[in-house]
Amino acid sequence: NGPNLNLLGSREPHLYGRDTLAQIERRLELRAKAAGVRLQCLQTNHEGVAVDAVQQAQRDGVGFLILNPAAFTYSSIALRDALTGTRIPFVEVHLSNIHAREPWRAHSHFTAVAVGSILGLGSRGYDLALEFAIERLKGARGA
Ligand code: DQA
Repeated sequence: NGPNLNLLGSREPHLYGRDTLAQIERRLELRAKAAGVRLQCLQTNHEGVAVDAVQQAQRDGVGFLILNPAAFTYSSIALRDALTGTRIPFVEVHLSNIHAREPWRAHSHFTAVAVGSILGLGSRGYDLALEFAIERLKGARGA
């Protein structure tokens, strides 16, 4: 999770909903545990921290990422290059429908290199992305 997503719950709730990031993470952790999958959560406001985390994920053998790049969506070639460079498959999640907002929000640097994207479903998008990740990690779904 990229910049300002630590403010979820109080940040523009008409756009991003009322769930806090801690609540979302807790929900996902419970689901991952039930599915027998290890989940690690990270939120950062700093681009370099995000790049380092992707590189570390590769060293740790992480099999799948769920990424809400937030404002990095529009700016971070470095984070995109980290993802393509490590070749860790990922789903891009946005709480809001970025196509229904300011026109400049519509173009994501990540969509073309993501396995897929989930937009506009609020925090539910994370749950759906996790279900997909679990299926992929367990080999139930083909490439
Ligand atoms: C966001 C959408 C982005 O446009 C915005 O910069 C965010 C959150 C979303 O989850 O809807 O920070 O990624």
